[in-house]
Amino acid sequence: MRTLNLVTGATDGIGLETARQLSSLGATVLVHGRSEAKARTAAAQVKGAVPVWADLADLAQVRSLAAQVEREEGTLAVLINNAGVFLHERKTTADGRELTLAVNHDAPVLLTHLLLPRLRKAARARVVNVSSIAHSRGTVALDDLDLSGHFDGYTAYAQSKLANVLFTRELARRLGPSSTVTTYALHPGVINTKLLRTGFSAMAGASLADGAKTSVFCATAPELEGQTGLYYAAQREMGASRVAQDDALCAKFYLLSCQRVGVTPLPG
Ligand SMILES: NC(=O)c1ccc[n+]([C@@H]2O[C@H](COP(=O)([O-])OP(=O)(O)OC[C@H]3O[C@@H](n4cnc5c(N)ncnc54)[C@H](OP(=O)(O)O)[C@@H]3O)[C@@H](O)[C@H]2O)c1
Repeated sequence: MRTLNLVTGATDGIGLETARQLSSLGATVLVHGRSEAKARTAAAQVKGAVPVWADLADLAQVRSLAAQVEREEGTLAVLINNAGVFLHERKTTADGRELTLAVNHDAPVLLTHLLLPRLRKAARARVVNVSSIAHSRGTVALDDLDLSGHFDGYTAYAQSKLANVLFTRELARRLGPSSTVTTYALHPGVINTKLLRTGFSAMAGASLADGAKTSVFCATAPELEGQTGLYYAAQREMGASRVAQDDALCAKFYLLSCQRVGVTPLPG
C-alpha cells in the first residue's frame, strides 16, 4: 500500500521543494495547486506525484480537494498545510471573509477536519501547519477577525500565522496525547520565495532546500513520535509566543474558526 503525503501550495516556493524532498524519501506526494493546470505542471516536476487542486479561498473547493484526496488509494500519513499569501490590500472571498485569514487559516482548519477520518486510518499520521516567526507579532482580533475596521497587510499576515499556532495547539489538545494523529506548527526560516518578495521585499532569503527542511522534519522525524501541539524552527522545538500559549484563547478561537468554515468542533 502506498503512503500518501499531501502538501498544499506545492506549485511554488517551500511547498514545491517540500514535495520534492518527501518524494525522494519514498512517499507518493499529492501536489496541491490552486488550479488543475498549475497542479499538473508542478506534479510533473516531482517523481511519482499526483496533482490535486482547489482555490483555498473557496470553502466549496476545499471540500472538493478533500474529495479528490479521498479518491486516491493509499495510507494518508501526512498533511502539510503549507499554502499561504501575503496581501497589501484588503480583499475578501465570495462569502465575505478576509482573504489572508481565509487562505492561511480557514482552509487548513476545514481541510484538516475533512481529512481527519482518513488520517486516523493510518497507524500514525501527522498534520503539519506552516506558520511563521511573524506569529509572535500577531494578535487575534476576536471581534473583527476579517479586519473590516482597520486593515494592514502585516497585521493580517501575523494574525493568520498566529492562528496556525493556536489551531495546532488546540487540535493537539482535542485529539488527546494518545491519538495516532499528531500535529506540529513551524517557522520554515526566511526563505527566498514569491511570498517573501511580496511581503518583505527588503529581506534576503535562504534557499528553498533550507526552507523545506523543518516541514520535512516535522512530517517525518522519528524523534518527534509522541510529540504533539508544539512549535518548531530550524528543526528544533522552540517556544511559541506567549499569546500563542494562551489556552483560553486557543479554545475560543478554535470554536470561532470551526463556525467560520462550517465544521463540527472535535469534542474537547
Ligand atoms: N518564505 C518565507 O520566508 C516564509 C517565512 C515564514 C513562513 N512562510 C510560510 O511558508 C508557506 C509557503 O510560502 P512560500 O514562502 O513558499 O510562498 P510562495 O512561494 O508564494 O508559495 C505559496 C504557495 O501557496 C499557494 N497559494 C496561495 N494562495 C492560494 C490559494 N488561494 N489557493 C491555492 N493555493 C494558494 C501558491 O500558489 P500560486 O503560486 O498559484 O499563488 C503557492 O503554491 C506559507 O504558509 C508562508 O506563510 C514563508
